[in-house]
Amino acid sequence: MTPFDDDKPLLIAEGLTKYYGRQLGCRDASFELYEGEVMAVVGESGSGKSTLLQMLSTQIEPTSGRILYRMRDGGMKNLWEMSEPERRFLLRTDWGYVHQDPQHGLRMGVSAGGNVGERLMAIGQRNYAGIRATAADWLGRVEIPENRIDDTPRTYSGGMRQRLQIARNLVTAPRLIFMDEPTGGLDVSVQARLLDLLRRIVSEMRIAAIIVTHDLAVARLLSNRIMVMKGGEVIEAGLTDQVLDDPHQPYTQLLVSSILPV
Ligand SMILES: Nc1ncnc2c1ncn2[C@@H]1O[C@H](COP(=O)(O)OP(=O)(O)O)[C@@H](O)[C@H]1O
Ligand SMILES: [Mg+2]
Repeated sequence: MTPFDDDKPLLIAEGLTKYYGRQLGCRDASFELYEGEVMAVVGESGSGKSTLLQMLSTQIEPTSGRILYRMRDGGMKNLWEMSEPERRFLLRTDWGYVHQDPQHGLRMGVSAGGNVGERLMAIGQRNYAGIRATAADWLGRVEIPENRIDDTPRTYSGGMRQRLQIARNLVTAPRLIFMDEPTGGLDVSVQARLLDLLRRIVSEMRIAAIIVTHDLAVARLLSNRIMVMKGGEVIEAGLTDQVLDDPHQPYTQLLVSSILPV
């Protein structure tokens, strides 16, 4: 692998805009994300967070704007000028996507070990014993007891499913991970444990991440930078601590003082 050029962004979003027919989803979002950086996207329900994340992860095509991504060889590529197989290859290798609902990110009828191992096979690993050992190691890292490796996620609790989804996504050592409300439907105590785990793993692996959340505590804990969205637009952006400690926009001030329902 070419040594990474740290002063060049991993991803550049320029004027990303999505209309669903006449309904605005997201307008003119621009930012740069660097290697190892964690960016939170916050805002109330309907503000355009998921639309932005789905454009960035190439699940929906922008109405206008473009996304440039730094490939492992150092070259910048426009994601929508790539072929579909190239994009799918990126999703399997360089990227991870953690869904709010783990059922969407896991194969519920396949064993936990299989869920993790499958991602390794997708990048060409063929040694069964090696795959199983790596899967077992990852289950340990996300605090799933090793004796549950052959059970399907159907038998798991919500928190365990979410941790398994994280293991499945991280086992291939992606450079960028997308997360949409990763602690969404979980109990508060389970959320805290998951957040702790996420923070540790993301910083250990130096993975860049874009995390959509309506929970400012999640943004505070996990992110270096934050973008605040409202009505489909980014209204404030900056270093997380600065924005949350000294918000400039009245709407962000309301969000921070928890006056707005989310
Ligand atoms: N598939 C869709 N068809 C039509 N409108 C949509 C669709 N998805 C999202 N929207 C609209 O786009 C706006 C942004 O939605 P979304 O990105 O889901 O916000 P968030 O994730 O912040 O809750 C909302 O007004 C929503 O109703
Ligand atoms: Mg959403």
